[in-house]
This record gives sequence, structure tokens and C-alpha cells, in this order.
Amino acid sequence: MKKVGKIFLYLILAIIILVFGAATYVSIFLPNVGKAENITIEKTAARVERGRYLATSVMVCVDCHSQRDWTKYAGPLTPGTEGKGGERFDQHYGFPGVFYSKNITPEGLSNWTDGEIFRTITTGVDKNGKPLFPIMPYHYYGQLDKEDIYAIIAYIRTLKPVVNPVPAAKPDFPFNIIENTIPTKASMQTRPPESDSLAYGKYITTAAACVECHTKDNKGQIISGLEFSGGREFLMPAGVIRSSNITPHEDGLKNWTAEKFVKRFKLYQDSAFVSPVLGKKDFNTLMPWMMYSKMEEKDLRAIFTYLKSLKPIANKVEKFSPIN
Ligand code: HEC
Ligand code: HEC
Repeated sequence: MKKVGKIFLYLILAIIILVFGAATYVSIFLPNVGKAENITIEKTAARVERGRYLATSVMVCVDCHSQRDWTKYAGPLTPGTEGKGGERFDQHYGFPGVFYSKNITPEGLSNWTDGEIFRTITTGVDKNGKPLFPIMPYHYYGQLDKEDIYAIIAYIRTLKPVVNPVPAAKPDFPFNIIENTIPTKASMQTRPPESDSLAYGKYITTAAACVECHTKDNKGQIISGLEFSGGREFLMPAGVIRSSNITPHEDGLKNWTAEKFVKRFKLYQDSAFVSPVLGKKDFNTLMPWMMYSKMEEKDLRAIFTYLKSLKPIANKVEKFSPIN
């Protein structure tokens, strides 16, 4: 009996040493995404224009990094706040800590090099190599064409500088340790030609990270095998909303034509469109409709082609459960 007790004690001790060892390793040696490249991106007019398009209508950096007016449908952004940051993501919405989108106007990034910004967008560490919370879909950005990221950097360098100091993130324990394992090295690719609409559609869908919102999650990680089948839940002031099934199943886009798809996105394209003010109990959506409405039709069509090629997955989604 005594012997068994001793073995048990040693076992516990070994486990404690292992856990501490692993935690120390993870905290000291990770994330390991390499050094920021020494690059200077030439801010040509073409790059700035391409960057503006990606940052405001496809990858929607401004979705999270600007002030949004959630009293209105789809939370249109408050003009003049592009890139100023400060949106709060906390435990109330199921996040493991308190995180804020950062100020990415030239005011916020004044002492960052182009290489540091490139590394941040594509790997998920900040200027000092500290991990960033993956609500910013950097794993997807790390699979894009270098040139598109250069364009984004050229564009955000032209934003109006806004003074808006943003508090530091406070991840909860043990997520503050786990977070170190999330950033990974980028694996950039070449943007496929538009004539290859399937590959090009996949590229644009990756850039927009549609799958992150359109897949059920387990503690923030999307569940493998259920990609694009919808049902991810988001808590909104009026109730719980769920993303749609966008696989080609009859619960999803099976009966949609490309025309219907494009039309749905283009509903708010007209610059005269004013997003309606909502009542406290009205359905509102996180789907960034206002920003996507400016997406080029050819890109929307390519996304549709790609979505139609996916495996159909059954999942009937109820969009909204109001809080009574
Ligand atoms: C879904 C929301 C979301 C999207 C979309 C998003 N970001 Fe972020 N971003 C964040 C959050 C939140 C943080 C801070 C995370 C943290 O502190 O752990 C962040 C951090 C950053 C940082 C680090 C700044 C600093 O001071 O540390 C940069 C740079 C950045 N984002 C640029 C971009 C760009 C460029 C895009 C578009 C290509 C983008 N983000 C898209 C939410 C987002
Ligand atoms: C920030 C989360 C988020 C992102 C990013 C997002 N969606 Fe959505 N989407 C939603 C939610 C939530 C709904 C359900 C509410 C609604 O219809 O507005 C939705 C609804 C939709 C619908 C409507 C389907 C219907 O039945 O009316 C389509 C189509 C769609 N999304 C496609 C996309 C595509 C394509 C992308 C990427 C370009 C994308 N979404 C990115 C959250 C998101």
C-alpha cells in the first residue's frame, strides 16, 4: 500500500513538472513565426486602390477596426472612424478574455515597419511577437497573395490618422498560455487567374474568411467537417442569431441562382441607401452586408461558383431566437 502511495506521489510530481515544463516552453519559445521581413512597400495609386477595395469590401478590416452603429441594420460604420479600433470583444460574448480591435490608422501604427504589419496580418503576432486573438482571421490572410497584403498595407497607411489609444488585451488563464500556440508561419500563394473561377472563387472566399462565421464552433474553433453549413451562434442585444447554411444543400444554397446571390449582396449597394434604425427587440445581423454590397459582381459570382462546388451538408438553421 505504502509503495503504491509513493508511486502515485511520483506520478503526480512528474505530471506537475511536465505541465509546468510545457507551459514554460509555450510561454517562452512560442509563438515562433520568424522575424518580420525587411521590406518597404511602394505606395502606388494602384496598390492603394486595390487595398481600399480589399479592406472595405472583401476582407473587411474596417468591419472590426472601426466604430459601428448597431442601432441600425447590419451596423453600418460611422464615417471618419475607419481603422480607429477600440471595438470590445469580451466574456459576455463568449471570448476567453477581453480583447479590443487596435488602432490601425497611421496614428496607431506610426512606429511599425511595413514588414511588421505584414507579419501581423499574415501570422497573428504583434510588433513585439506577442500573439493576437484569432478573431482576426489571420490564418486565412496567411494563405493569400503577398501582393494583396502589400496593397492592404499601402491603403491603411493612407487612412486619416485618428488619436484613439486602445487598452491592451487581457486574455484569461489558461488561454493566455494557449494563445501562444495559435499564430503560425504564413504560407502565401499566388492569386489564381479570374478565368479559373473555381480556384479564384476559393481564393476570394478565403480572403473574406466566410467559413469562420458560417461554421458551428466548439469554444471558438470551427468544427472540422461542418465547414460552411452555418448555425454558428452569436449573441446580440435582441437575442441569438445564427449564420446561414451556405453549402449547396437544400437547407442552404441549393435553390439559389448566381443572380439571386448577387442580388442579395447588392441590396444595399446604392449610396443613397440608409440602413433602417431598429427597435431594441428587432433582429439585427453580424453579416457585414453593407461592406460586402460594394464587392465586385465578378468576385461575388466566383464565390458563388466555389460555394456551389462544396459538399452539401444538411443543417436547417433558425436565424433568430429573440430574448423575451
Ligand atoms: C473579425 C475582426 C477583425 C478583422 C476582420 C480584422 N481584424 Fe485586425 N484585429 C482585430 C482584433 C480584435 C485585434 C487585437 C487582437 C488582440 O489584441 O489580441 C486586431 C489586431 C490587428 C493588428 C495589430 C495592431 C496592434 O497594435 O497590435 C493589426 C495591424 C490589424 N489587426 C490589422 C488588420 C487588417 C489589415 C485587417 C484586414 C486585412 C484586419 N486587421 C482584420 C480584429 C479584426
Ligand atoms: C461576421 C460573421 C459573418 C461573416 C464574416 C460572413 N457571414 Fe454570411 N451571415 C452571417 C450571419 C449571422 C447570417 C444570418 C443573418 C442574416 O441573414 O443576415 C449570414 C447570412 C448569410 C447569407 C444569407 C443566406 C440567406 O438565407 O438569406 C449568405 C448568402 C451569406 N451569409 C454568405 C456569406 C459569404 C459568401 C461570406 C463571405 C464573403 C459571409 N457570408 C461572411 C454572418 C457572417
